[in-house]
Amino acid sequence: MKVSFGCISITQKSKDLIRESLNTARVSNGRLVYEFEKKFAKLVNAKEAVAVSSGTDANTLALALLYDFGAKRGDEVIVPALSFVATGNAVLHAGFKPVFVDIDRDTLNINPILIEKNITKKTRAIMPVHLMGKPAKMDIINRIAKKHKLYLIEDAAEAHGAVYKGRNVGEFSDMAAYSLYLAHIITTIEGGIITTNNKKFAEIIRSLRCHGRACKCNVCVVNTSSEYCPKRFQYGKDIRFIFERVGFSSKMNELEAAIGLGSLSCYRKIINKRHSNLLAMINKLREFSEYFYTIKEDKDERIGPHAFPIIVKEKAPFTRNELVDYLDKRGIDTRDLFSSMPTQCPGFAYLGYKLGDFPNAEYVGSNGIHIGVHQDINDKHIDYIFKILMSFIKFRVK
Ligand SMILES: Cc1ncc(COP(=O)(O)O)c(C=O)c1O
Repeated sequence: MKVSFGCISITQKSKDLIRESLNTARVSNGRLVYEFEKKFAKLVNAKEAVAVSSGTDANTLALALLYDFGAKRGDEVIVPALSFVATGNAVLHAGFKPVFVDIDRDTLNINPILIEKNITKKTRAIMPVHLMGKPAKMDIINRIAKKHKLYLIEDAAEAHGAVYKGRNVGEFSDMAAYSLYLAHIITTIEGGIITTNNKKFAEIIRSLRCHGRACKCNVCVVNTSSEYCPKRFQYGKDIRFIFERVGFSSKMNELEAAIGLGSLSCYRKIINKRHSNLLAMINKLREFSEYFYTIKEDKDERIGPHAFPIIVKEKAPFTRNELVDYLDKRGIDTRDLFSSMPTQCPGFAYLGYKLGDFPNAEYVGSNGIHIGVHQDINDKHIDYIFKILMSFIKFRVK
């Protein structure tokens, strides 16, 4: 049996939209992207959504927006030490300095108690990550952000459908950034999307995703069709060639939006299936609690079902790599549970952190894996995973 990490559902609707797009040759950012943005915003209860080319760009552009509100290059952004490397990269791409904070081992998320002592005069924003779709403690983090007048941007790359204290993640902050990459809950194959309730923020992000140009209305007819644009010469020069800020080239195209619209048409179905898979796996892991731990779903939350994390406990008589190898040979695909970005990612070494600075992130970085919970996984796959885990334990524990 094979248990893949990710899957993709390409609906008939997506195929029809792709054919339509190709036939009209309108394939760059246009009507379908706009429709996808509107639908996504509605589903997560946001007023605005801006689609971009990746989750990394979604984080980067959300941060780069802060220059319009007084941030300076080199200012600081607080992020958890444990995440997919894209979180730290995005801070650097945007021109800021990431300030890493250790995680709480049980939630895998930033430890809110450690945030305040990392705030300096240069701090501009906090970017919590909802790792594995488990909501970060947004009420506490929000209070800290308000108290210190910091922007709050949620890295919700893995958290579509996550709910915390009755509200969707993404509703707690100035902006939320989602990945729409293939292995994620809702996908456009490659892609990302930023949601916000602030119209001005959305306008600036539309400008940022398209080289910083002044042309940023939400249905840009110049971009999407050959229709006449009454705003084109409003500043005395073609608006498309006025660049108001340092921008990025980060648009989503129509073919990606077509895949995304199909994905959104099964939004609840995908989330519910993944969620029930995740809960079944969390439940079954209890039997192995001597050797492994995972996250749990608290009463006041619903996890966005990205993947199933398994962390090898200190006393287990085997290593993470031995486990991964055993599962791999038996068709079960796994991914490492990321790394402590500042101390386990060589690319960040120049920032000067040293191993031991983030013990919890480092522990999970060395001992954690995650397994798919996607919509093509059924009870038979789940039984198979746990049968193999059991045989691994028997093989390793004498
Ligand atoms: C927590 C987190 N942030 C950001 C990203 C970046 O998303 P993308 O791969 O779409 O650039 C990912 C992607 O896996 C992620 O897991």
